[in-house]
Amino acid sequence: MGLAYELRGVWKVYGSGEGAVAALRGIDLDIEDSEFLAIMGPSGSGKTTLLDLLGLLARPTRGSLRLFGEDVTEIPDSRSTEIRRNTIGFVFQTFNLVPWLSALDNVELALAIGGYRGDRRERARRLLESVGLGGRLNHRPSQMSGGEQQRVAIARALANDPRIILADEPTGNLDSESGRKIVGLLRDLSRSGRCVVMVTHDEEMAALADRIVRLRDGVIVG
Ligand SMILES: Nc1ncnc2c1ncn2[C@@H]1O[C@H](COP(=O)(O)OP(=O)(O)OP(=O)(O)O)[C@@H](O)[C@H]1O
Ligand SMILES: [Mg+2]
Repeated sequence: MGLAYELRGVWKVYGSGEGAVAALRGIDLDIEDSEFLAIMGPSGSGKTTLLDLLGLLARPTRGSLRLFGEDVTEIPDSRSTEIRRNTIGFVFQTFNLVPWLSALDNVELALAIGGYRGDRRERARRLLESVGLGGRLNHRPSQMSGGEQQRVAIARALANDPRIILADEPTGNLDSESGRKIVGLLRDLSRSGRCVVMVTHDEEMAALADRIVRLRDGVIVG
């Protein structure tokens, strides 16, 4: 057991001068390396901004961010790209699958991009089986339900065996039954030793996490 993230006094300000928006205002947050954390809060409260910082897709304007003990607040882009590729898997509300590729090819593509050197087809097949899609390997996204597409997206996020999974509204486009399955899958991933951070508007989904962080106007309120 250790810490995946340590955030200290993190601010994120978009723009400058009159039009500046402070999306995060002094966030202090530790996240355990095998924790399943839910982030909740009203629209505009800074949830996606926080997830972008955790995913090293953006940098804090002020404050510091450590990832597995490494200070990543001001690392060069080349290093954050490397960390993202090796350490972080992303899951989105809209799945973001390549529409003309089968489930197998979508996952294989991620393995190719990640530079996986083994048998990509075999690994893609095993990843899809691990999310319960062994029977949908050759289906394209349009031939699958929303819940199945999101499971392909999770298999894809797992391609390079990341220690961290970041999910922004992963159940936002799903009915509650499919949503519960997806959150159950994310929960299993945290149980197997990954850090999972999920943004959600849905109290029922958030209740399945180990802990809920609530944001309001860029500040943690609970
Ligand atoms: N690229 C940007 N440039 C300027 N302002 C931004 C940018 N991204 C976000 N903001 C502003 O920062 C604040 C926080 O936005 P953020 O997207 O993090 O909210 P959110 O909690 O994810 O909202 P939602 O639930 O609607 O997705 C909002 O006021 C938003 O308008
Ligand atoms: Mg958002």
